[in-house]
Amino acid sequence: MKKCLICDGELIKFAEFGPMPIANGFLKEEDFENEYFFDLEVAYCEKSKMVQLINQPKPSQMFHENYAFFSGTSKNMGKHFELFADYVIDTHLKNIASPFVCEIGSNDGILLKNFKKKGIKHLGVEPSSNVANVAKQAGINTIVEFFDPECAKKIVKEHGEADAFLAANVMCHIGSIKSVVEAIKILIKDDGVVIFEDPYLGEVLKNTTYDQIYDEHVFLFSISSIQFLFNQFDMEIIDVFPQKTHGGSMRYVIANKGMKKISKKVGEFTNIEIEEGLTDIDKLHNFNDNCIRHKEDLMSLLKKLKSDGKTIAGYAATSKSTTVMNYCGINSNHLDCIYDTTPLKQNKYSPGTHVLIKPHSEFKNNYPDYALLFGYNHLNEILEKEKDFIAKGGKWIVYVPKLHII
Ligand code: SAH
Ligand code: TMP
Repeated sequence: MKKCLICDGELIKFAEFGPMPIANGFLKEEDFENEYFFDLEVAYCEKSKMVQLINQPKPSQMFHENYAFFSGTSKNMGKHFELFADYVIDTHLKNIASPFVCEIGSNDGILLKNFKKKGIKHLGVEPSSNVANVAKQAGINTIVEFFDPECAKKIVKEHGEADAFLAANVMCHIGSIKSVVEAIKILIKDDGVVIFEDPYLGEVLKNTTYDQIYDEHVFLFSISSIQFLFNQFDMEIIDVFPQKTHGGSMRYVIANKGMKKISKKVGEFTNIEIEEGLTDIDKLHNFNDNCIRHKEDLMSLLKKLKSDGKTIAGYAATSKSTTVMNYCGINSNHLDCIYDTTPLKQNKYSPGTHVLIKPHSEFKNNYPDYALLFGYNHLNEILEKEKDFIAKGGKWIVYVPKLHII
């Protein structure tokens, strides 16, 4: 049996989603035969309080020169990262003469471009060369590497120690997270800050958004588990900020112990986690029951619509949709295709379930009766953009927080 990635403690399995392909592994027909699958199983460690996958594919299987997720595809996320940069600058860099910020998982530069614009020294660490190249072409300093202690030493040698270490939607991707924290200790100044955000366990449990569970998301963080992890390295959470992004996330601000004032929010939110049972295995078993119910409800709706002769298309081939489609068994018997704006995904097939991905530009000429919204985290942006679909009688199937039709 595998052990906890944080403390080597015993793992308690509480959910199984079945054989799962690489979430961003959009593929061509000739590659169907050799498609890679692993068992998507989720466990909890009562000691570290960390929810984690039991198996994760190798990083090189997920992050490479054909990585399919480009952060810049959502306008609202662009705005979110502009505000993220403002927060970092106004709260943590204000009194520093020539600050240096380093971000891992910097992707196409969606966050760092806001530092570049203000002339702030920055560096992105991004192993997927295709998305990193988009950033480099925009003049954002980026190195194509996985972040680890060796990489941190190299950065310090070439650029000096960082005032702020930043990360969004990447810390929860890295199984060797302890080596990342070691690397952070090497990289930042003694009084430097670590600021990162990831999907939040509390929101996943509340909304039954089990689609946040896929190969890349090896961890589902809570304040309690992050506190446990960083405590092992003599660091502590000094502030927390809930975020609306990705269906509900949490931003953590961390520093070396005793270096900064701790906001009282840290204690308050930790107590809420305990009161709400986030550190309680019963709550996780209950989540699993909710997932099973969610799958049954969604499938009976899709089957009913098909038997009534309705056409259905998927909207946005998100990484999350890979879990929903494979777990529920949604395939080309239910969906005619999935429309998506990312050129790298178009004219390929969805991982595991092999539904054709078509360019978003074709949606307006081929409105289905129903569109199954896989990108529910972009709901407002998409409803605004697709007013004509509703005007022409189209309906949205939304499955978060509850299955409903718009
Ligand atoms: N920060 C962006 C991108 C998130 S996707 C956003 O929030 O939109 C996760 C990114 O992390 C991918 O671009 C992936 O290539 C990168 N990544 C994965 N493992 C990494 C590691 N060990 N070090 C640095 N980046 C990593
Ligand atoms: P994610 O941020 O939830 O992972 O979703 C990103 C995917 O959604 C990406 O493939 C682009 C797609 N998308 C659309 O197709 N249309 C849209 O309007 C938005 C916001 C995203």
